[in-house]
Amino acid sequence: MPDRRARAERLRDVFELQLRFAQHMAERTGTPLGQLVLSATNFHRRFGFGDPDRGVSPKWNGYVRELALLRDITERVAWTQDFFATAPDETLPAQQRFFGCFGFEQPDAQGVVRIHFIDTDNDDIGPLHRSKVTRRRSDLAEMVAAIRATCPDAATIRGVSWLYHLEAYRRLFPPDYGASRRPAEPVRLSGMSSWGQFLTHTGAIKPALRDAFLQSFDTMDVTAPWRSFPLPALTVAAPLAVFEAYYAH
Ligand SMILES: CC(C)(COP(=O)(O)OP(=O)(O)OC[C@H]1O[C@@H](n2cnc3c(N)ncnc32)[C@H](O)[C@@H]1OP(=O)(O)O)[C@@H](O)C(=O)NCCC(=O)NCCS
Repeated sequence: MPDRRARAERLRDVFELQLRFAQHMAERTGTPLGQLVLSATNFHRRFGFGDPDRGVSPKWNGYVRELALLRDITERVAWTQDFFATAPDETLPAQQRFFGCFGFEQPDAQGVVRIHFIDTDNDDIGPLHRSKVTRRRSDLAEMVAAIRATCPDAATIRGVSWLYHLEAYRRLFPPDYGASRRPAEPVRLSGMSSWGQFLTHTGAIKPALRDAFLQSFDTMDVTAPWRSFPLPALTVAAPLAVFEAYYAH
């Protein structure tokens, strides 16, 4: 609990940014704020309730009911911090297996395996720092071997994230995979594939990216708001065999 209170303090600016975005979308579209906070922020996951597309927690309603009664952004941010501080810890998604910072989902009907990145390092050095390249590549090599061993139908690895804008991230993967990047359409905003870009590895906000995003609100296309993020999520894919060959060296 004291730890979650400390994290709630660190995440204050990120909560505020997401609430400002949801409020702006609510005003522009006439959609209730509670609905937008569910679909267009990552709070449901942050509160430890998991992916909202897999079911909305009954406890979520208590959060949005109170949120709707509050008058301004300051009160809404404070309430979000309080709710977060007493919420259960986030757990890794049960349907994914993790290897260091990387996880994968079971293949879909076309043999496509979706991968994910979460900072699971418990130290002061960012997980993408150059000193950790070897460690991250060995996470990936282990994950690729596990995909081959446990998913006979797996054929392709796919990612969707803002992270593919970064050379510091792409350098961990086979060059063909990074080179395949193109804008993702549409992008779900209830996870980290867009929101993750505003965070440093300590959980603090990146002010320049936040300010660029806030300035884009007035010209935002509310039917495709993911395009207004400073680093819009990119989609990438490459055959599993390309990964195996790359990490075999
Ligand atoms: C990914 C994350 C750890 C990056 O945090 P960070 O404090 O910026 O970075 P790290 O210290 O790990 O990495 C630093 C490297 O990334 C580069 N980098 C990070 N953000 C960058 C940006 N916006 N533009 C360019 N380069 C960037 C740095 O230049 C550095 O590269 P270098 O080692 O070659 O100098 C942080 O954003 C995070 O935890 N996000 C949430 C998780 C997430 O987004 N997951 C995506 C799920 S789809």
